[in-house]
Amino acid sequence: MEIRGSTTVYGIIGYPVKHSLSPLMQTAAFQEAGIDAVYVPFEVKPEHLKTALDGIRALNVMGVNVTIPHKERVVEFIDFLDEDAEFLGAVNTIKNVEGKLHGYNTDAVGFYRSLVEEGIALKGKTAVMFGAGGAAKAVGYALLKGGVKFLHIFNRNFSRAKELGDLLSRLGNVLVYPLKESAVETVLPTADVIVNTTSVGMKSSDPHLFDYSKIPEGKTVVDIIYTPPETELLKAAKKKGCKVVNGLGMLLYQGVAAFEIWTGRKAPAELMKKVLLEELYG
Ligand code: ATR
Repeated sequence: MEIRGSTTVYGIIGYPVKHSLSPLMQTAAFQEAGIDAVYVPFEVKPEHLKTALDGIRALNVMGVNVTIPHKERVVEFIDFLDEDAEFLGAVNTIKNVEGKLHGYNTDAVGFYRSLVEEGIALKGKTAVMFGAGGAAKAVGYALLKGGVKFLHIFNRNFSRAKELGDLLSRLGNVLVYPLKESAVETVLPTADVIVNTTSVGMKSSDPHLFDYSKIPEGKTVVDIIYTPPETELLKAAKKKGCKVVNGLGMLLYQGVAAFEIWTGRKAPAELMKKVLLEELYG
């Protein structure tokens, strides 16, 4: 592409940021849409976060994504927060509106849309979620806002599960458990949708979260991990005739939502997906 005097700048701030797929995905999207913009990675150390945000204003960078470890800390430097970002206390997308930074969180809507695109309905359903970290917060929020009737949260560190449960119970029925086989075996048969938000399954040497032979038949199992494309959890779920969904959709649709916030235009989602698939799985 040609960079001109008129070219606008977008980017991602994170530390590290090297492995982010967003520059590839968003650059392809801008090009496809014929928008005169670049999207670049900015490696920002935690101690430089405030300066970096002042830099966004000063340099008139039009928008950035925010990734680990800045999503939560960045909130204090934002001028306006949207409802999702405010509830989650985390921002992954910033839009610069005439020097004012507007903060959004597209992780929850990205997760929700990835399910919708797969034809998965949530209204009145029972969901079982593993994990209570930052990703779990966005996923649990999306599940409840999407209409699940019961959300059961399992986490190894029980006090973290309780803390997340306290927050999410403002939105609906939430029950929390320590990650114990006996509790999992009791609750799992009631599940319509099972979601892993932990990092367990990224490495082939990882333990199983629970006894996967206990996955009920014919349900929906979602893993927000996208490398490998099929975790042990998803493999086991497939064998049980479950519908399985990995985390590629969440990655894609959080990016689609960010693009739409920045540009006010429909994102070229098919192309963005193609770019991700090629990069990740060849
Ligand atoms: P993220 O922002 O990606 O959610 P995080 O906040 O570090 O990352 O959360 C990681 C999640 O994976 C947590 O729920 C963590 O459980 P703990 O709160 O008990 O640490 C979970 N997790 C990581 N490794 C795990 C393991 N070996 N067994 C079970 N849960 C694990």
